[in-house]
Amino acid sequence: MNALLDARFAEAYRDLAATRLAPWLASLPQQVQAAVYEAPHGKRELWLETLAQLPKVVASSVDFTQGTVRLGQATDLNAEQAAALQAALAVFIPWRKGPFEVFGIQIDTEWRSDWKWERVAAHLSPLQGRLVLDVGCGSGYHLWRILGAGAQQVIGIDPSLFFLMQFHAIKHYAGQQPVHLLPLKSEDLPDFQGKGFDTVFSMGVLYHRRSPLDHLQELKNALRTGGELVLETLIIEGDEHTVLMPEDRYGKMRNVWFIPSVAMLELWLRRLGFENIRTVDITTTMMDEQRSTAWMRFESLKDFLDPENPRLTIEGYPAPVRAVIIANASK
Ligand SMILES: C[S@@+](CC[C@H](N)C(=O)[O-])C[C@H]1O[C@@H](n2cnc3c(N)ncnc32)[C@H](O)[C@@H]1O
Repeated sequence: MNALLDARFAEAYRDLAATRLAPWLASLPQQVQAAVYEAPHGKRELWLETLAQLPKVVASSVDFTQGTVRLGQATDLNAEQAAALQAALAVFIPWRKGPFEVFGIQIDTEWRSDWKWERVAAHLSPLQGRLVLDVGCGSGYHLWRILGAGAQQVIGIDPSLFFLMQFHAIKHYAGQQPVHLLPLKSEDLPDFQGKGFDTVFSMGVLYHRRSPLDHLQELKNALRTGGELVLETLIIEGDEHTVLMPEDRYGKMRNVWFIPSVAMLELWLRRLGFENIRTVDITTTMMDEQRSTAWMRFESLKDFLDPENPRLTIEGYPAPVRAVIIANASK
């Protein structure tokens, strides 16, 4: 048990209790407690201690509507607080999804997640007043952008405790906001029986699932009838019979299972009862979108591609191309 985290989860439960999602609360607190505290984790105490020691400062302004999620300004902190904040944020390296600016400290993340958001946001039903779920939200960059686009309440789920800690390092300075991250997998979501979220995002998750159709079914179960799915995932060229299953790694990633063609992905969605299915964007991932930075010092895209031919991964597969597909849960 940790008072700080548990207080944050209590805020999430309080916000959810005021919505049609309230029945979830019958199982949710137990699931969250098990996910956070049951598995042994060598760094959990260090991370919790770091969160507890974040300088207690109120941000003079926050902005979730621009590419960089901004909290406070450099002038909100004295020199000692600025040094303590810099050291605390460094504990949470590597920062993969962003960018963020926290009291003037620029967190230049591995990914320009704002570019993905731009590709997606143009095609969404307006988010104003909607209950939104982001499945596999990482440390939550897109949760803040979804809030900035007017959503009523934003829930992210991601099984990584590390990303939960990064999220809270940011949320600490965001003030009271209806944005919550729960450390769950999509397999843990209940079937909301047509009374779930208005919009469900799954970005960068499908290819990590050994059972991609089960993942899509979980997303459908989390939607309300007629609600909107926003699916972003790796694709390959081909027809409705084409899917790539890497022999082992793909772009050095161990946990990549299925990379379908757009036609096959759309077929999967049709078979599961989605309708109004449209592929709104196809983009090749470039090295200026995913790269090593001072805040993510490990290898990145340039190391995952064939140095002789950047159209191939280092294993010889087609280099990463990503599609955004939007669909509705059938009535
Ligand atoms: C490539 S990242 C994508 C992060 C973010 N959605 C984005 O598009 O930038 C994939 C995320 O999915 C999470 N993830 C993996 N398996 C998952 C599952 N079964 N349910 C929910 N999230 C999962 C990982 O922890 C990771 O944060």
